[in-house]
Amino acid sequence: MNILASVTVSQAWCGDALAIAVFTNPKTASDEQTESQKPKYLELSEPLKSLDVKVLGCTLSDLIIESEFVGAVGTSVSGRVGIDYAIRKVILIGLGDPAKANPDDWRKAAAAATRWANKEKVKKLAIAFPSYNQNIDFTTQAIAEGVLLAAHQDKRFKSKDNQPFLLEQVEILETNPELASGAIAKAQQIIDGVILARELVSAPANIVTPITLADTAVAIAAESNYFTAKILEKAECEALGMGAFLAVSLASDIPPKFIHLTYSNGTPKRKLAIIGKGLTFDSGGLNIKTGAGCSIELMKTDMGGSAAALGAAKAIAHLQPTDIEVHFIVAACENMINGKAMRPGDILTASNGKTIEVNNTDAEGRLTLADALVYADKLGVDAIVDLATLTGACVVALGEDIAGMWSIDENLAEAIALAAKDAGEKIWRMPLEEKYFEQFKSIVADFKNTGTRAGGAIAAAMFLKQFVETTPAWAHLDVAGPVWTERESGYNNAGGTGFAVRTLVNLIIN
Ligand code: BES
Ligand code: MN
Ligand code: ZN
Repeated sequence: MNILASVTVSQAWCGDALAIAVFTNPKTASDEQTESQKPKYLELSEPLKSLDVKVLGCTLSDLIIESEFVGAVGTSVSGRVGIDYAIRKVILIGLGDPAKANPDDWRKAAAAATRWANKEKVKKLAIAFPSYNQNIDFTTQAIAEGVLLAAHQDKRFKSKDNQPFLLEQVEILETNPELASGAIAKAQQIIDGVILARELVSAPANIVTPITLADTAVAIAAESNYFTAKILEKAECEALGMGAFLAVSLASDIPPKFIHLTYSNGTPKRKLAIIGKGLTFDSGGLNIKTGAGCSIELMKTDMGGSAAALGAAKAIAHLQPTDIEVHFIVAACENMINGKAMRPGDILTASNGKTIEVNNTDAEGRLTLADALVYADKLGVDAIVDLATLTGACVVALGEDIAGMWSIDENLAEAIALAAKDAGEKIWRMPLEEKYFEQFKSIVADFKNTGTRAGGAIAAAMFLKQFVETTPAWAHLDVAGPVWTERESGYNNAGGTGFAVRTLVNLIIN
């Protein structure tokens, strides 16, 4: 799919379909008193008024009146234009109140236009937004991201006669092509990383294994002179004393892979480590996931954190930010069952010497992250950010759209919150409650890996905190909810969402 930016005005464009994004009519002071006399629908102003009359055979006004369309965020009306006209189909998409204009609404409007065009089997779509002279870069990037995110359809596992229709071209009208084309290229590079993450998450565990994740990291490094990839095999992990990580992989026929990708360009002013939980399948182990709602069939998504890390790495390989060093780390393995499986009650020793009593084999993510955190803690970075599909409790607390964030450092928490806001990804800060660590007390070991059900997402964060000893800033993102969606919504199609890739990219490049 090709995105272009042009100076063409919508009145002069011709092609299959035109999408027009509109604000609601601005409210005036007298609106409050005259609420009952106001028209119940959007009033078109120039140049849309003459576009409607001259080019669209009054289809817009007809649609607006018929459905009492006011232009609210997330709403749209569409229809067919008469046979005599140069444009065959049209959609109006609401942007809401102009005083509350927000790039994420524009991103979603562009996505709605794209999704509609695909369903209508449109090959060439044009999109016209209200004129925007401020933040052309940022706004155009958001529009292009919306288009690319909605256009991506994962057809890898569908047979030939079950292929989706693919839109060929989207033209952003009435813009400055010189300024816009850089933003479009940037969006393309970032969304390439998001799509990698989506496809890693959507692929089942018989396709994406720890070996696949390692191969993916090596392939990213091969694309860029600024990247090096180091894959630690099982024996090297043993030598480093990674007893917690390795115990999780004991019952898998597929070897564990400890992935360490390093990006270094120029003289680093900032050094960051990004860790992603990489369980390519989580059966629960001997505490096997059983019963309704255990979601075992979705546990291919338990590598969503590592998918975000690798997706961000791919985007960074293309964006090539300077004077920064970033480490991308994944302790990749599978949590399975056989005669070698770790048993409930087993005591493990992590690479920092701490001993852990495994009272639940299904709390495996924190075991793999423990050794990854110890490894990252020795790199001398300014900050560590880990991302993990860590707890069902986080999904209970925040639902499927919002990730939880825990941080020991205010500046890092603020930087992540800002990066997420610009990306339109929802992250909510949660507390690191020292007292909740008491529930991990063990009779025989330093601590257990599981506490009580209440506050399970916070307790898990407190467990991870034990493995960050010297790095001044650390944040943990529990992404168990948002890495996957059953239904299309906003700019996500059903399946893996690529959540957190865009937030990570913003965090790294800004
Ligand atoms: N991978 C799961 C968490 C998860 C649950 C992700 C639902 C996505 C959707 C994790 O390894 C896990 O099993 N966590 C347990 C922890 C418990 C045993 C303390 C959980 O959340 O039930
Ligand atoms: Mn588990
Ligand atoms: Zn898991």
